[in-house]
Amino acid sequence: MKKALITGITGQDGSYLAEFLLEKGYTVYGLTRRTSTVSNERIKHIQDKIELIQGDLLDQSSLSAALLETQPDEVYNLAAQSFVKTSWNQPVLTGEFTALGVTRMLEAIRSVNPKIKFYQASSSEMFGKVTETPQKETTRFYPRSPYGVAKVYGHYITVNYRESYDLFACSGLLFNHESPRRGLEFVTRKISHAVARIHLGKQKKLELGNLDAKRDWGFAGDYVEAMWLMLQQDIPDDYVIATGENHSVKEFVELAFRTVGITDWKQHIEPNKEEYLRPAEVDYLVGDATKARKVLRWKPKVDFKLLVEMMVTADLEIEKRNGE
Ligand code: NAP
Ligand code: GDD
Repeated sequence: MKKALITGITGQDGSYLAEFLLEKGYTVYGLTRRTSTVSNERIKHIQDKIELIQGDLLDQSSLSAALLETQPDEVYNLAAQSFVKTSWNQPVLTGEFTALGVTRMLEAIRSVNPKIKFYQASSSEMFGKVTETPQKETTRFYPRSPYGVAKVYGHYITVNYRESYDLFACSGLLFNHESPRRGLEFVTRKISHAVARIHLGKQKKLELGNLDAKRDWGFAGDYVEAMWLMLQQDIPDDYVIATGENHSVKEFVELAFRTVGITDWKQHIEPNKEEYLRPAEVDYLVGDATKARKVLRWKPKVDFKLLVEMMVTADLEIEKRNGE
């Protein structure tokens, strides 16, 4: 039976990956940081099947201790300060978590057991102001946020440790992936949550920033399979994971409102550029996952329409359950 350690197990992807690996028969360990209130909402349904180890990407010795204690075959490094907008307000912290945290984990692997396979959660945000379309593994990076810059560092240190120390280290260049478990500050969940509340008469307006930004949105449940597939290959490598289709924020809004039967959606939108526009925007992302399709035999199952409907339906259920 294989053992996996997931950093960021309390996050969106961590929860889906833990479920996926349990299904595959893995023993699953999750690294969680100490907080005064516990944030295990996304994994409470599987908590009796996994083991949580305290540790922090800021603390080198806690990472080595977690590896020594759990002796994993595979480490999935999903933990990060992952909200792009916050990275302008907390650029140094973002660098500590999202960039240097990767080196700390790689160093821990090197010293405890260099045979551990390593997955790094890299991002399409690294392509930023895109230099070619669609973006693939060889596309030049042009990050547009402190988060994007930190992820470029995390990507290259992963490649560097693979080449310097022969570690089995892979970097997944994942395009945006969403789900009903997405954090409420990300635009898709912010929309599905607000649409459900507006439909139920609990909210009147939805404040948004740039409606023209386009993203290649997939379903998180599909994307965690790709992470696992990367670590099952004979040779470690880097892969773009994407649907190959993109849509604007406006299209997401329209479809979300249509799901609850509202067509005059514009009356519910309140532009708030001051609050939600970014100092430098990523206007357009769309990925080319040909390599993943050929080598990993991976392809997404959930399309854009199904994703939007799934998120709105889930938020409707939550909001109905919550009552007032
Ligand atoms: P998420 O929901 O924001 O989860 C982030 C996780 O990181 C949480 O479990 C958080 O723990 C943990 N964490 C943050 N700082 C930490 C620290 N110093 N030490 C230990 N744990 C820490 O993010 P996600 O959407 O699941 O994304 C997973 C990873 O993929 C991230 O690295 C993200 O940047 C990357 N990524 C995501 C996407 C996407 O579209 N979702 C696309 C490309 C790449 P708490 O619960 O304690 O906050
Ligand atoms: N969050 C947010 N809130 N975004 C808004 C809003 C709003 O009110 N209005 C418009 N947007 C636009 C943003 O300007 C951006 O262009 C787009 O919606 C998507 O924003 P987010 O959902 O915050 O995601 P992101 O693309 O910046 O980052 C996500 O995807 C990356 C992969 O490309 C995160 O999951 C990152 O961690 C991930 O690496």
